[in-house]
Amino acid sequence: MERLMGGGVLQLLLASAGVLLLYRILVRLRPGAPLKDAVVVITGASSGLGKECARVFHAAGARLVLCGRDAARLEKVVQELTACSTGSQKQTYTPSTVIFDLADTDTVDRAAEEILKCYGQVDVLINNAGISYRGNILDTHISVHRDVMETNYFGPIALTQALLPSMIRRRSGHIVVISSVQGKIAIPYRSSYAASKHATQAYFDCLRAEIDRHGIAVTVISPGYIRTNLSVNAVTGDGSKYGVLDKNTAMGRDPSDVAQAVLKAVRQRSKDVVLAGPLPCLAIYLRTLWPALFFKLMSSRARKEQKPKDE
Ligand SMILES: NC(=O)c1ccc[n+]([C@@H]2O[C@H](COP(=O)([O-])OP(=O)(O)OC[C@H]3O[C@@H](n4cnc5c(N)ncnc54)[C@H](OP(=O)(O)O)[C@@H]3O)[C@@H](O)[C@H]2O)c1
Repeated sequence: MERLMGGGVLQLLLASAGVLLLYRILVRLRPGAPLKDAVVVITGASSGLGKECARVFHAAGARLVLCGRDAARLEKVVQELTACSTGSQKQTYTPSTVIFDLADTDTVDRAAEEILKCYGQVDVLINNAGISYRGNILDTHISVHRDVMETNYFGPIALTQALLPSMIRRRSGHIVVISSVQGKIAIPYRSSYAASKHATQAYFDCLRAEIDRHGIAVTVISPGYIRTNLSVNAVTGDGSKYGVLDKNTAMGRDPSDVAQAVLKAVRQRSKDVVLAGPLPCLAIYLRTLWPALFFKLMSSRARKEQKPKDE
């Protein structure tokens, strides 16, 4: 009898594994959302991951609205993209640009109006812009925490909320946010950054549930280290620029590979994507399944580092 039951359980497990495998294959085979002619808005498009996203979505035939604070840098990106597509058989569009500072949330409504004027609609909003932070909590002024939250959290949510009504009216749209592995686990000497990305994860998880019934998708993307100037542009505890390209960031993933993964996530309307190696993924599981060990490891890391180093 026991052997029979054991066989039944095994069959059930095998059948469940088979169903799961089939589901994963079907998800992979699902035709991707078309990006040709789609209106894609990218914040922080002047450098790093945002610039690479601009490149891959432009090549896919999207109509781009590139956002940033520096008009000259954005114009340079537009010229590079236009030069790339000269002579190509594929139809591409010259990107539009909208200049605004995400940290100045009072200007975001005006920016959203300007964005909507470009093509009359937004199909995909990629909230990519962000700044990082390096510092010891004991030496960090509260204004620095606020500034990082303004750029990484309040700015993106203000822009999202300003563009949402037009998506809801059309019952169509996709909101993407570039968070970080540090939106899932917090590592020492990154308090402001990790806090802003945790807040981002929470907000967009709530948003996904709330707007699903309107036919709008929400994707949270959490990359590990990417080879960009994020650490160079990071702020320190006194608000000054960190100005150093950290070892881990320098050895991070190629931003063009990450941009391709963002494109794939948009096509598949994925809900939550972690783009990191096995160690950060293990740390994310450890934080949930064995928090005591995770906290011990983080304390030991903090003791060893004593001062900020990498992202
Ligand atoms: N690099 C990594 O290791 C890594 C890892 C995980 C997640 N991420 C995330 O990836 C995203 C892109 O960062 P990146 O690595 O590409 O760094 P980056 O090269 O420093 O790019 C940051 C972009 O954000 C824009 N930006 C910063 N503050 C802004 C503000 N107040 N208003 C408007 N735009 C602002 C910058 O534009 P301007 O300065 O030209 O205005 C720039 O285009 C960020 O959200 C970051 O948190 C990066």
